[in-house]
Order: sequence, then structure tokens, then C-alpha cells
Amino acid sequence: MNVILMGLPGAGKGTQGERIVEEFGIPHISTGDMFRAAIREQTEMGLLAKSYMDQGLLVPDEVVIGIVKERLNKPDCEQGFMLDGFPRTLAQAESLDTMLLQLGRQIDHVINIDVDRSLLLERLTGRRICKSCGATYHVVFNPTKEEGVCDKCSGELYQREDDNEATVATRLDVNIEQSAPILTYYKDKGLLRNINGQQDINVVFGDVAKVLRGQA
Ligand code: AP5
Ligand code: MG
Repeated sequence: MNVILMGLPGAGKGTQGERIVEEFGIPHISTGDMFRAAIREQTEMGLLAKSYMDQGLLVPDEVVIGIVKERLNKPDCEQGFMLDGFPRTLAQAESLDTMLLQLGRQIDHVINIDVDRSLLLERLTGRRICKSCGATYHVVFNPTKEEGVCDKCSGELYQREDDNEATVATRLDVNIEQSAPILTYYKDKGLLRNINGQQDINVVFGDVAKVLRGQA
């Protein structure tokens, strides 16, 4: 099963992605997570990506397309994959089609987690992530049992550098503008499914799982 998870910053792509991995066992390919790993390792690509991410801007298409192409060619993607945060421009969507054609694969589901912009600032500024296992929490909506400590692995929680108010505003503007044509692109292909992302996290997952199981 080959899946694309779409949604504005803070819509819940990472949160739902974690659950999809647990339930369906396909690799979770988050371009944002790949860039953050490259930044931690201080690679040349990581430093380039950081200069865009810190401003809330998109990393140039050729860089993103390159890392996704390399990742999709890895053996663990042979039984399926879930893309989170890619494609984010029409050029990326078209390149993905070319990559999949070369691999003899196709996208089965495009899930758009739909959340009103007005809710996203609070979601992003209250987000906390585990340094060790990457699990995502929220100080109000999905708190850990012990403050600052991951429920799953007892790792330390941190806040993403781009989760400050000013950067979030730019990220939302950029993503709203860029996502509209991609949603149309996949709607025209008959692949797009909109899920109400303003429900409880478990309810959203129930809706996502129904689509992935072909029950909705
Ligand atoms: P990326 O890491 O992909 O960030 P994003 O798109 O801004 O999305 P987020 O990860 O912030 O949100 P999410 O939807 O995963 O939400 P989450 O589940 O964490 O990209 C970062 C940057 O990298 C970009 O700005 C860009 O510079 C670059 N980049 C990445 N991909 C690129 C590409 N393809 N092209 C160019 N540049 C690219 O949830 C958020 C919070 O809400 C959490 O605290 C969570 O607990 C909470 N929450 C989740 N669901 C619910 C719910 N149902 N109810 C209440 N709270 C909820
Ligand atoms: Mg994410």
C-alpha cells in the first residue's frame, strides 16, 4: 500500500503517521524528519535545508526530490510506504509520478487531514517531541504522564525550532498557497480523501484506517 499524507503544518500528519506505522507496518517517510536528521548530523544538505526551515520556507524542489527518490529505492519500501509532507509543490507531485512510473508503482490513497488554520498555531506552539524515539505530544491535547518525559521510552522532550509564532505564520501561509493545486491534482486523479482532523486523535485515526482498509 502506497500512501500520501497531506495536511497543513500541525494538522496531524506525524501523529497519524505513527499510528499508521503501528497498524499497517509501512515505512513512514517524512521529508521534514529527514531534514531534521541531516541537520543533527550537520551534513551539507542539512545546513542548506536549515536555512529555509528556520524561516518557514520550503526547501528547493531539487533537494527534496533527490532525497525522496533515494529513499523510495530502499528495500523496505518494496511492500509499501507512507509519504508525510511530500509532495508539497506541483513540481514535486509530477516528479513523484515519474519516480513511481520507473519503479512500476502507483499511489493507492491520498489522505488530506483537514484542520482550520485558526487551530494550528496552538497545536504547533504546544507540540513536544521525544528526542530519543520521535513520538509527538501536545502539552494540552496529548500530554505525557510525566511532564517533559516520553511515555513510550522515557526520553527527554524538546520543542522544534520552527514551532515559534512568527515561523508558524509563514509556514501556514506558504503551505496554504502551495497545497491548493496539489489537492486539485490528486482530486482529479480520483485519489483524494479528506478527513476531518478536528476530532479527537483516536477518532481521526479511525477515519484514516477505514480509508486505508477500503471500508470508507
Ligand atoms: P514538516 O516537518 O513536514 O512540518 P509541517 O508540514 O510544517 O508539519 P508538522 O510536522 O509541523 O505538522 P504535522 O501535520 O506532522 O502535525 P503533528 O502530528 O506533529 O516540515 C518542516 C519543514 O521542512 C518545512 O517547513 C519545510 O521547510 C521543509 N520541508 C519538509 N518537506 C518539504 C517538502 N516536501 N518540500 C519543501 N520543503 C519541505 O501534530 C501537531 C501537534 O498537534 C502535536 O502537538 C500533536 O500532538 C497535536 N495534534 C495532532 N492531532 C491532533 C488532534 N486531532 N487534536 C488535537 N491535537 C492534535
Ligand atoms: Mg510532522
